[in-house]
Amino acid sequence: MRIGIIGSGEMGSLLASKFVALGHTVSITNSRGPQSMRQLAENIGVQPTTIEEVTKNRDVIVIAIPQKSILDLPRNIFNNLSKDIAIIDTGNYYPNLRDGILSGLDQSGIDSLWVQEMLGVTIVKAFNSILATSIKDVEELRDRNDRIALPVSGDNMGAKKTTFKLVQELGFDYLDIGNIHKSWKQQPGSTIYCKDVNLVTMKKKVEEMGDDWYQMQNIVLSKRSRDEKLMKADYTAYLETLKS
Ligand SMILES: NC(=O)c1ccc[n+]([C@@H]2O[C@H](COP(=O)([O-])OP(=O)(O)OC[C@H]3O[C@@H](n4cnc5c(N)ncnc54)[C@H](OP(=O)(O)O)[C@@H]3O)[C@@H](O)[C@H]2O)c1
Repeated sequence: MRIGIIGSGEMGSLLASKFVALGHTVSITNSRGPQSMRQLAENIGVQPTTIEEVTKNRDVIVIAIPQKSILDLPRNIFNNLSKDIAIIDTGNYYPNLRDGILSGLDQSGIDSLWVQEMLGVTIVKAFNSILATSIKDVEELRDRNDRIALPVSGDNMGAKKTTFKLVQELGFDYLDIGNIHKSWKQQPGSTIYCKDVNLVTMKKKVEEMGDDWYQMQNIVLSKRSRDEKLMKADYTAYLETLKS
Protein backbone atom coordinates (compact mmCIF):
# COMPACT_ATOMS: atom_id res chain seq x y z
CA MET A 1 0.00 0.00 0.00
CA ARG A 2 1.02 3.64 -0.43
CA ILE A 3 1.15 5.12 3.06
CA GLY A 4 1.61 8.79 4.00
CA ILE A 5 2.61 9.56 7.58
CA ILE A 6 2.22 12.97 9.23
CA GLY A 7 4.69 13.16 12.11
CA SER A 8 8.20 11.71 12.18
CA GLY A 9 8.56 11.50 15.96
CA GLU A 10 8.59 8.36 18.06
CA MET A 11 5.31 6.94 16.76
CA GLY A 12 5.45 8.15 13.15
CA SER A 13 8.99 6.96 12.49
CA LEU A 14 8.45 3.63 14.22
CA LEU A 15 5.28 2.85 12.27
CA ALA A 16 7.07 4.01 9.10
CA SER A 17 9.93 1.57 9.66
CA LYS A 18 7.52 -1.31 10.36
CA PHE A 19 5.43 -0.57 7.26
CA VAL A 20 8.55 -0.36 5.05
CA ALA A 21 9.70 -3.72 6.42
CA LEU A 22 6.31 -5.17 5.43
CA GLY A 23 6.85 -3.98 1.84
CA HIS A 24 4.69 -0.85 1.84
CA THR A 25 5.75 2.40 0.18
CA VAL A 26 5.96 5.06 2.85
CA SER A 27 6.19 8.86 2.62
CA ILE A 28 6.60 10.91 5.76
CA THR A 29 6.42 14.54 6.80
CA ASN A 30 6.91 16.64 9.92
CA SER A 31 6.70 20.28 10.96
CA ARG A 32 10.27 21.10 9.78
CA GLY A 33 10.16 19.80 6.23
CA PRO A 34 11.85 17.07 4.17
CA GLN A 35 15.45 18.22 4.78
CA SER A 36 15.12 17.37 8.46
CA MET A 37 14.27 13.74 7.63
CA ARG A 38 17.23 12.89 5.38
CA GLN A 39 18.89 10.69 7.99
CA LEU A 40 15.60 8.96 8.79
CA ALA A 41 15.05 8.29 5.09
CA GLU A 42 18.49 6.72 4.80
CA ASN A 43 18.02 4.64 7.92
CA ILE A 44 14.59 3.17 7.22
CA GLY A 45 13.89 3.66 3.51
CA VAL A 46 11.05 6.18 3.69
CA GLN A 47 10.46 9.06 1.32
CA PRO A 48 10.53 12.46 3.10
CA THR A 49 7.93 14.81 1.73
CA THR A 50 6.05 18.04 2.41
CA ILE A 51 2.78 18.37 4.27
CA GLU A 52 1.11 19.36 0.99
CA GLU A 53 2.25 16.17 -0.77
CA VAL A 54 1.89 13.64 2.05
CA THR A 55 -1.82 12.99 1.50
CA LYS A 56 -1.65 12.75 -2.31
CA ASN A 57 -2.05 9.35 -4.03
CA ARG A 58 -2.16 7.34 -0.80
CA ASP A 59 -4.16 4.33 0.29
CA VAL A 60 -3.53 5.10 3.96
CA ILE A 61 -2.70 8.32 5.83
CA VAL A 62 -1.42 8.06 9.39
CA ILE A 63 -1.58 11.09 11.68
CA ALA A 64 1.03 10.81 14.44
CA ILE A 65 1.30 14.28 15.98
CA PRO A 66 0.34 15.80 19.35
CA GLN A 67 -3.40 16.50 19.65
CA LYS A 68 -2.86 20.27 19.85
CA SER A 69 -0.97 20.18 16.50
CA ILE A 70 -4.11 19.00 14.69
CA LEU A 71 -5.09 22.68 14.68
CA ASP A 72 -1.94 23.54 12.69
CA LEU A 73 -2.58 21.11 9.81
CA PRO A 74 -3.66 22.78 6.57
CA ARG A 75 -7.27 21.69 6.04
CA ASN A 76 -6.92 21.57 2.25
CA ILE A 77 -4.62 18.53 2.38
CA PHE A 78 -7.72 16.47 3.18
CA ASN A 79 -9.87 17.93 0.41
CA ASN A 80 -11.11 15.65 -2.36
CA LEU A 81 -9.63 12.46 -0.94
CA SER A 82 -11.25 9.19 -1.99
CA LYS A 83 -13.64 7.73 0.59
CA ASP A 84 -11.66 4.48 0.40
CA ILE A 85 -8.57 6.01 2.01
CA ALA A 86 -7.99 5.07 5.63
CA ILE A 87 -7.00 8.15 7.64
CA ILE A 88 -5.66 6.75 10.88
CA ASP A 89 -5.36 8.91 14.00
CA THR A 90 -2.80 7.59 16.50
CA GLY A 91 -3.23 10.61 18.76
CA ASN A 92 -4.12 11.10 22.39
CA TYR A 93 -5.21 14.17 24.28
CA TYR A 94 -3.11 15.09 27.30
CA PRO A 95 -4.37 18.53 28.40
CA ASN A 96 -2.23 18.84 31.52
CA LEU A 97 0.91 17.17 30.24
CA ARG A 98 1.24 18.46 26.69
CA ASP A 99 -1.75 19.81 24.78
CA GLY A 100 -3.39 22.47 26.97
CA ILE A 101 -7.16 22.89 26.91
CA LEU A 102 -8.49 22.50 23.38
CA SER A 103 -11.75 24.31 23.06
CA GLY A 104 -14.60 22.07 21.99
CA LEU A 105 -12.82 18.88 22.99
CA ASP A 106 -13.66 19.15 26.65
CA GLN A 107 -17.36 19.32 25.74
CA SER A 108 -17.60 15.86 24.16
CA GLY A 109 -14.49 14.51 25.88
CA ILE A 110 -13.95 12.14 22.95
CA ASP A 111 -10.46 12.77 21.53
CA SER A 112 -10.88 11.39 18.01
CA LEU A 113 -14.41 12.70 17.52
CA TRP A 114 -12.84 16.14 17.96
CA VAL A 115 -10.06 15.30 15.46
CA GLN A 116 -12.69 14.15 12.95
CA GLU A 117 -14.66 17.37 13.44
CA MET A 118 -11.56 19.56 13.18
CA LEU A 119 -10.26 17.92 9.99
CA GLY A 120 -13.66 17.46 8.35
CA VAL A 121 -12.86 13.90 7.26
CA THR A 122 -13.81 10.49 8.56
CA ILE A 123 -10.97 9.01 10.56
CA VAL A 124 -10.08 5.68 12.12
CA LYS A 125 -8.62 5.61 15.61
CA ALA A 126 -5.85 3.03 15.94
CA PHE A 127 -2.33 2.57 17.35
CA ASN A 128 -3.08 5.20 20.01
CA SER A 129 -3.38 2.77 22.89
CA ILE A 130 -0.06 1.00 22.68
CA LEU A 131 3.31 2.39 23.64
CA ALA A 132 5.85 2.64 20.84
CA THR A 133 8.09 0.40 22.94
CA SER A 134 5.51 -2.40 22.71
CA ILE A 135 5.25 -2.00 18.92
CA LYS A 136 9.04 -2.20 18.60
CA ASP A 137 9.15 -5.82 19.73
CA VAL A 138 5.94 -7.03 18.13
CA GLU A 139 7.70 -9.49 15.80
CA GLU A 140 8.79 -11.49 18.84
CA LEU A 141 5.17 -11.77 19.99
CA ARG A 142 3.58 -12.36 16.58
CA ASP A 143 3.56 -16.15 16.81
CA ARG A 144 2.31 -16.33 20.38
CA ASN A 145 -1.22 -17.61 20.87
CA ASP A 146 -2.13 -14.62 23.00
CA ARG A 147 -1.07 -11.85 20.67
CA ILE A 148 -1.59 -8.29 21.88
CA ALA A 149 -4.91 -6.90 20.63
CA LEU A 150 -5.33 -3.35 19.37
CA PRO A 151 -8.65 -1.52 19.48
CA VAL A 152 -9.84 0.18 16.29
CA SER A 153 -12.80 2.53 15.95
CA GLY A 154 -14.29 4.65 13.21
CA ASP A 155 -17.34 5.36 11.10
CA ASN A 156 -16.06 4.06 7.73
CA MET A 157 -16.06 0.25 7.60
CA GLY A 158 -13.92 0.15 4.43
CA ALA A 159 -11.23 2.29 6.08
CA LYS A 160 -11.46 0.17 9.21
CA LYS A 161 -10.96 -3.02 7.22
CA THR A 162 -7.77 -1.57 5.70
CA THR A 163 -6.64 -0.71 9.23
CA PHE A 164 -7.47 -4.22 10.53
CA LYS A 165 -5.24 -5.60 7.77
CA LEU A 166 -2.32 -3.36 8.75
CA VAL A 167 -2.78 -4.18 12.43
CA GLN A 168 -2.69 -7.90 11.65
CA GLU A 169 0.28 -7.60 9.28
CA LEU A 170 2.24 -5.98 12.08
CA GLY A 171 1.53 -8.93 14.34
CA PHE A 172 -1.41 -7.81 16.47
CA ASP A 173 -5.00 -8.96 16.77
CA TYR A 174 -7.63 -6.26 16.41
CA LEU A 175 -10.90 -5.48 18.15
CA ASP A 176 -13.53 -3.39 16.39
CA ILE A 177 -14.73 -0.99 19.09
CA GLY A 178 -17.45 0.53 16.91
CA ASN A 179 -17.97 4.03 15.54
CA ILE A 180 -15.92 7.10 16.43
CA HIS A 181 -18.37 8.06 19.21
CA LYS A 182 -17.28 4.86 20.97
CA SER A 183 -13.56 5.60 20.60
CA TRP A 184 -13.48 6.88 24.20
CA LYS A 185 -13.14 3.20 25.12
CA GLN A 186 -9.55 3.25 23.79
CA GLN A 187 -8.43 6.71 24.86
CA PRO A 188 -6.29 7.64 27.89
CA GLY A 189 -8.00 6.74 31.17
CA SER A 190 -9.90 3.77 29.75
CA THR A 191 -9.30 0.29 31.14
CA ILE A 192 -7.67 -0.99 27.92
CA TYR A 193 -5.34 1.95 27.35
CA CYS A 194 -1.75 0.72 26.87
CA LYS A 195 -2.45 -2.49 28.78
CA ASP A 196 -1.02 -4.87 26.13
CA VAL A 197 -3.77 -7.44 26.68
CA ASN A 198 -4.89 -10.22 24.36
CA LEU A 199 -8.16 -10.29 22.46
CA VAL A 200 -10.14 -12.26 25.06
CA THR A 201 -9.15 -9.93 27.89
CA MET A 202 -9.69 -6.85 25.75
CA LYS A 203 -13.22 -7.95 24.79
CA LYS A 204 -14.06 -8.53 28.45
CA LYS A 205 -12.72 -5.15 29.55
CA VAL A 206 -14.55 -3.38 26.72
CA GLU A 207 -17.82 -5.10 27.65
CA GLU A 208 -17.33 -4.09 31.28
CA MET A 209 -17.03 -0.42 30.27
CA GLY A 210 -20.51 -0.57 28.71
CA ASP A 211 -21.80 1.92 26.16
CA ASP A 212 -22.85 4.85 28.30
CA TRP A 213 -20.28 7.61 27.83
CA TYR A 214 -22.20 9.98 30.09
CA GLN A 215 -21.86 7.50 32.90
CA MET A 216 -18.22 6.71 32.14
CA GLN A 217 -16.90 10.16 31.18
CA ASN A 218 -15.98 11.24 34.71
CA ILE A 219 -14.33 7.93 35.49
CA VAL A 220 -12.22 7.88 32.30
CA LEU A 221 -11.21 11.54 32.35
CA SER A 222 -10.38 11.50 36.08
CA LYS A 223 -8.18 8.45 35.54
CA ARG A 224 -6.43 10.26 32.69
CA SER A 225 -5.77 13.26 34.99
CA ARG A 226 -4.34 10.99 37.70
CA ASP A 227 -2.15 9.26 35.11
CA GLU A 228 -0.92 12.60 33.77
CA LYS A 229 0.14 13.60 37.31
CA LEU A 230 1.97 10.32 37.80
CA MET A 231 3.64 10.50 34.36
CA LYS A 232 4.92 13.95 35.24
CA ALA A 233 6.14 12.94 38.69
CA ASP A 234 7.50 9.45 38.00
CA TYR A 235 7.17 7.99 34.51
CA THR A 236 8.65 4.64 35.57
CA ALA A 237 5.99 4.30 38.25
CA TYR A 238 3.32 5.08 35.64
CA LEU A 239 4.68 2.33 33.39
CA GLU A 240 4.45 -0.09 36.33
CA THR A 241 0.73 0.66 36.71
CA LEU A 242 0.15 -0.51 33.12
CA LYS A 243 1.23 -4.02 34.13
CA SER A 244 -1.64 -4.58 36.57
N1 LIG B 1 5.16 7.62 21.52
C1 LIG B 1 4.27 6.71 21.90
O1 LIG B 1 4.61 5.69 22.56
C2 LIG B 1 2.83 6.87 21.51
C3 LIG B 1 1.97 5.76 21.67
C4 LIG B 1 0.64 5.87 21.28
C5 LIG B 1 0.16 7.07 20.80
N2 LIG B 1 0.99 8.14 20.70
C6 LIG B 1 0.41 9.41 20.22
O2 LIG B 1 0.89 9.64 18.90
C7 LIG B 1 1.06 11.04 18.68
C8 LIG B 1 2.52 11.30 18.32
O3 LIG B 1 3.32 10.90 19.41
P1 LIG B 1 4.92 10.83 19.33
O4 LIG B 1 5.37 10.19 20.59
O5 LIG B 1 5.36 10.28 18.04
O6 LIG B 1 5.28 12.39 19.40
P2 LIG B 1 6.67 13.07 19.09
O7 LIG B 1 7.78 12.09 19.20
O8 LIG B 1 6.70 14.29 19.92
O9 LIG B 1 6.56 13.49 17.53
C9 LIG B 1 5.59 14.38 17.10
C10 LIG B 1 5.78 14.61 15.62
O10 LIG B 1 4.72 15.44 15.16
C11 LIG B 1 5.26 16.36 14.22
N3 LIG B 1 4.40 17.52 14.08
C12 LIG B 1 3.96 18.37 15.03
N4 LIG B 1 3.19 19.33 14.47
C13 LIG B 1 3.14 19.07 13.16
C14 LIG B 1 2.52 19.69 12.06
N5 LIG B 1 1.77 20.78 12.21
N6 LIG B 1 2.71 19.16 10.82
C15 LIG B 1 3.45 18.05 10.64
N7 LIG B 1 4.06 17.39 11.67
C16 LIG B 1 3.91 17.91 12.90
C17 LIG B 1 6.60 16.71 14.82
O11 LIG B 1 7.39 17.35 13.85
P3 LIG B 1 8.90 17.78 14.16
O12 LIG B 1 9.68 16.51 14.23
O13 LIG B 1 9.30 18.60 12.97
O14 LIG B 1 8.87 18.53 15.44
C18 LIG B 1 7.08 15.33 15.26
O15 LIG B 1 7.72 14.69 14.19
C19 LIG B 1 0.66 11.73 19.99
O16 LIG B 1 -0.68 12.17 19.92
C20 LIG B 1 0.81 10.63 21.03
O17 LIG B 1 -0.01 10.82 22.15
C21 LIG B 1 2.31 8.07 21.04
